[in-house]
Amino acid sequence: MAEFEIIAKDVMGRIGKLETPHGKIETPALFPVINPNIDFIPPREIRKMGAQGIITNAYIIYRSKRLKDAVRKKGLHSFLGFDGVIMTDSGSYQLSVYGDVEVTNREIVEFQHEIGSDIITPLDIPTPPDARREHAERDLEITMARLEEAKELHRRWDDRSLLVAPLQGSVFSDLRRKSAIFSAELDFDIYAVGAMVPLMDSYRYDVVISLLSEIKSVLPSYCPVHLFGAGHPMIFPVAVALGVDMFDSAAYALYARDGRYLTPSGTLKIGEITDFPCSCRVCSSHTPEEVRNSGERDRLIAEHNLYVSFEEIRTVKQAIRNNTLFEMVEERIRCHPSLLNGWRNMEKYSDLLETYDPSYKRSFFYTGVESCYRPAVIRHRKKLKEMEIYGKEIVVSFIDGDGDFLFKPPFGPYPSGLSETYPAGHAEVPRNIEIEAEKLALETLLELISEKKDIRFILKINGGWKEKLKDIRFPENVRLRIEGG
Ligand code: GUN
Ligand code: ZN
Repeated sequence: MAEFEIIAKDVMGRIGKLETPHGKIETPALFPVINPNIDFIPPREIRKMGAQGIITNAYIIYRSKRLKDAVRKKGLHSFLGFDGVIMTDSGSYQLSVYGDVEVTNREIVEFQHEIGSDIITPLDIPTPPDARREHAERDLEITMARLEEAKELHRRWDDRSLLVAPLQGSVFSDLRRKSAIFSAELDFDIYAVGAMVPLMDSYRYDVVISLLSEIKSVLPSYCPVHLFGAGHPMIFPVAVALGVDMFDSAAYALYARDGRYLTPSGTLKIGEITDFPCSCRVCSSHTPEEVRNSGERDRLIAEHNLYVSFEEIRTVKQAIRNNTLFEMVEERIRCHPSLLNGWRNMEKYSDLLETYDPSYKRSFFYTGVESCYRPAVIRHRKKLKEMEIYGKEIVVSFIDGDGDFLFKPPFGPYPSGLSETYPAGHAEVPRNIEIEAEKLALETLLELISEKKDIRFILKINGGWKEKLKDIRFPENVRLRIEGG
């Protein structure tokens, strides 16, 4: 297993350093896809824009005599003019789109080794999302056998190249887990979640999110994870928060050819833009009109697309370092209902989130109901249950700082001595908070009250709270004290 050092963490995301033959990559990292046939934006330009690595398709090189001879002679790095990390894919994608490729797993794996690829991908079978279960099972068996074969070859080489385990299993959670467990036992360097392109293209982000969670629930935390085919910046924050370390993007170029302009919150058509919402080199030196009428339209849009993609990766990294990735994710999921839906399903994986998410942070900004399900809120509730409380009478103030306990949705009660302490004391929440957050906080309070039957709880509330609490039947050890308006 390649050296992967994790240096900062937030949610399930991390900043890591992955050792490769061409130096360390700092993750999360984005590898633009380079078509060896087309010199769209030259790799050396892409390097200048901040790419630590690129990904190219070994099969496209292998099947063309001209390219194959040239790359064999020069080596991959000097052929592409790129001195960073080069990852190669195996032709599996061509296999999934065109049905057949004329190469074996052994041939394409050995070829990647021969041309000096830093990160080598076996010939997996991406099973489409609408496949029947038997089909997905059969494909996965073949993929697993090929992974074993690739691993055997890789062991024999005396080099430091990294070997990828593509994870398949279509939309079947148990098959995805099986794929991850099998690969982790064989000990690969990178685990790449495959066959996600059709799901992304049809905006089924909820499925992507749940499959990633299933995989992460069985994959050891120290394993680097690549997400194949997720090149839209809108998905980066959520994917990183679920533990994805690497992305590839063909989207920057493919979208550009259709006149589609990427932003972190979605896609715009170049024909419909009057003012660019971006300040990259392209957008600050051209008007949308000029880009539309330029003979270099596609290249200009592609350059912008790549720029915003790298920018979003840097923004996510900074959010990890500041421990504000939850806040960033909760903002970005509002860009597409299916992202919002998928993230809301994360409530099911709260134990998984809790095992990863750091228990101390500087701040807690409430951004919406999704904030209620953060591990900080769940942990607070657990801690409260275990807390020793001394005294016969406890005042819980809903309205000011004067009480033994204070009350703040979505957390509920917390000792007033911790009013400057993360999370509850520190939390910034709106006064007009959603009813769900209030309900959760009240549940937590009621849980505490019913645990401590021999303590009398005085709830200091105002008229507004009185109205909200009117249908609650409190146990006998509770008194309401109404103050103010
Ligand atoms: N590129 C996009 N999806 C896939 C996949 O499932 N496998 C491989 N090898 N490459 C991909
Ligand atoms: Zn731009």
